[in-house]
Amino acid sequence: MIKYMIRGGTPLNGTVTISGAKNAAVGILPATLLVKGPCRIENIPDISDIRLLLEILSEMGASIRRLSPNTIEIDCTHARDAVAPTELVRRIRASYYFIGAQLGRFGHARVALPGGCNFGPRPIDQHIKGFEAMGAEVQLQNGYVCATAPEDGLPGGRVNLDVVSVGATMNIMIGAVLAKGTTIIENAAKEPHIVDLANFLNAMGAKISGAGTDVIKIRSVSALHGGFYSIIPDQIEAGTYMAAAAATGGDVLVQNVIPKHMDCISAKLREMGAQVTEYDDAIRVVRTGRLRRANVKTLPYPGFPTDMQSQIAVCMALAKGTSIITEGIYDTRFRYCAELSRMGAHIQVDNKVAVIDGVDALHGCAVKACDLRAGAAMVIAGLAADEVTTVEDAHFIERGYENMVEKLTSLGAHIRRIESPDAPSVQRVG
Ligand code: EPU
Repeated sequence: MIKYMIRGGTPLNGTVTISGAKNAAVGILPATLLVKGPCRIENIPDISDIRLLLEILSEMGASIRRLSPNTIEIDCTHARDAVAPTELVRRIRASYYFIGAQLGRFGHARVALPGGCNFGPRPIDQHIKGFEAMGAEVQLQNGYVCATAPEDGLPGGRVNLDVVSVGATMNIMIGAVLAKGTTIIENAAKEPHIVDLANFLNAMGAKISGAGTDVIKIRSVSALHGGFYSIIPDQIEAGTYMAAAAATGGDVLVQNVIPKHMDCISAKLREMGAQVTEYDDAIRVVRTGRLRRANVKTLPYPGFPTDMQSQIAVCMALAKGTSIITEGIYDTRFRYCAELSRMGAHIQVDNKVAVIDGVDALHGCAVKACDLRAGAAMVIAGLAADEVTTVEDAHFIERGYENMVEKLTSLGAHIRRIESPDAPSVQRVG
């Protein structure tokens, strides 16, 4: 059991450095299975989701060397054609990328369906639709996704996604790279991590064009070679520290970011009254007066990210006036509102809409991290609140935020990590 204890009320002040993007890294690591030769990858966040994926790769025969805390060399030349280890696969949602990776590398895949789900149903029908459009036969058997290419290889094909899906776009790209023919993804997701995965694969010899637009073309190559790659900074981690600066009335320079990726978040914080200044690879957020109300609807990139919904909700809980959040991606992503209400927030949730009446102050108490981003929101609320907040189930936060306690401490926060030895089995979703 991991919990964070926070004595709130101190504005954050100073400089924080953002780590590599989790949602890029969780696609790139499984994609190394396609590569014969060593891939040296820099800026890999040291978070529990990544450690789990490395364990899966290692079980599958990859040779892995950690060259520094954030640089890893992965060589899948001698990877085994075996079922991805089920117990590990079921603990992390991103393990679905092993379907595309195994299909591309071995011509068949057998991967357990990814684990539980926090935000309502999260099907993978679009991933399957893509593999079928490329010529694979896909079946669900006893909780496993089994995909098989024809004997002479995947012909490739054209897939028009019914919903804009990050996971399906990345998985189809991974599966298509070593196909015999060209694959085209229409209505593709455009998130920065889609572009990062394409850049990684291209650096290893793939021929992918159009990533970052809604049509991605993957031309076939016969093999990928090893190489170097550096993962982009994490848009959501950066946004989380920006929201924390705004919520606490702080002055924080968030460095190692790509400001363009932050446009939507920067614009919303400015609308709410924070000063946001962009530099080449940094953003400074300063908040002096009280935050103002605003509305947000979460959308695929370049819209406001669903993964920032709970963090901006904390700013809204403290803003003057009534704000409205509409969740545009998931069926349910407001479970954290009950926790925030325990701290004195006034929030009403109806289906995909939350109405937040700003209050003058939040008050510390014991709350739970319902999931990764909800946990980050509870930390922000605790930093802004008076007295002491305890965030339980903080293992969720450590799935996606590298050294959050250390980073916040360096910004002047009073936060402590407490790990009790009688740990219950850790359940991951994401
Ligand atoms: N969807 C389908 N069918 C599919 C795939 C998706 O109906 O086959 C629906 C989903 O149910 C959802 C929407 O499409 O309503 C978008 O889902 P998407 O596939 O884009 O999400 P994901 O790939 O499962 C990734 C991130 C999430 C992030 C979303 C949206 C990873 C491992 N996860 O999930 O990140 O919320 O994209 O940007 O990359 C997080 O980091 O905290 C997190 C949850």
